[in-house]
Amino acid sequence: MTTLTLTVAAVQTETPIIRSLVLTAADGAALPGFTAGSHLKIHIPGQKEPRCYSLIGIEPDNSLFEAPASYRLGIRLEDPSTGGSRYMHQIKAGDTLIAEGPKNDFPLHAAQADEPATVLIAGGIGITPIASMAAALKAQQRPYQLHYYGRSLDQMSFVDELCGQHGAALSIHADDDAATLLPLPALLEQTDPRQHLYICGPKGLIDAVVEQSHGKHWPHSHVHFELFTAAAPQAGDRGFEVELRQSGQVFHIPPDKTILEVLEAAGCDPLFDCKRGECGVCQAVVLEGVPDHRDYYLSDDERAEGKVMQICISRSRSDRLVLDL
Ligand code: FES
Repeated sequence: MTTLTLTVAAVQTETPIIRSLVLTAADGAALPGFTAGSHLKIHIPGQKEPRCYSLIGIEPDNSLFEAPASYRLGIRLEDPSTGGSRYMHQIKAGDTLIAEGPKNDFPLHAAQADEPATVLIAGGIGITPIASMAAALKAQQRPYQLHYYGRSLDQMSFVDELCGQHGAALSIHADDDAATLLPLPALLEQTDPRQHLYICGPKGLIDAVVEQSHGKHWPHSHVHFELFTAAAPQAGDRGFEVELRQSGQVFHIPPDKTILEVLEAAGCDPLFDCKRGECGVCQAVVLEGVPDHRDYYLSDDERAEGKVMQICISRSRSDRLVLDL
């Protein structure tokens, strides 16, 4: 990925906990183009891992994607923050950010003749890549529906801009406004498995859509999603032991760390990319033990077989795992 030095040209408060940043190239050079669903990795001082933020494009204009004069990011202040969002909420106009990208792990499918409307579903700050997708689809004159879910209208960002661009294609669903509510089962009931679904937002929203769409025999290839969070401990998580068969090394994985994190801290060099269980890059062969799969990459059959696992997010049901690493 290209490393970019960016200047913060403007900071806008969108809601009490969401702000947007407009970024330009510090040297005035042209910025790389991007496609809807792309993100930048922003380096956070003092943090080992950069943070990923989706690039927002709201105006349906192809040239704004192909030759952007600036980039726009939306950042939600997380509670608790692990440092990234807090730092990004202290940034001021004129500050400099180091970024890598743009990179797209969440691309739109190619246009097809007579395609049915693409269904875009955003929850909270998950609107950032979904807004770009809606803009790109409109710019390409392709049919789409945009469903934006949030707790309350005053906590939902970019609403006025989205209303201005998308009109009847946009449906806002706020939990505190019964008139706007559309439960996910009802939304999927109105939708056809020939349609592509794109979902971005909290894990609960993604899990619900994925589960319900699979229950309705939606083709996996028509259900696309992006999580905004990396692995997070779950209630009841416990420690376990991992043996790397090729080197003979044995590690204890505590409840609050992933296998990948422990291997990295020990100086191993495991392959990884997303750290969210989506890309499959960190996959390891399981020689002994029973994995606790938490990824979105493996099929149900692969999970049941238990022969491979994604070490960035999945854990162990047994006290010990032996991996072919
Ligand atoms: S790094 Fe992507 S699935 Fe583990």
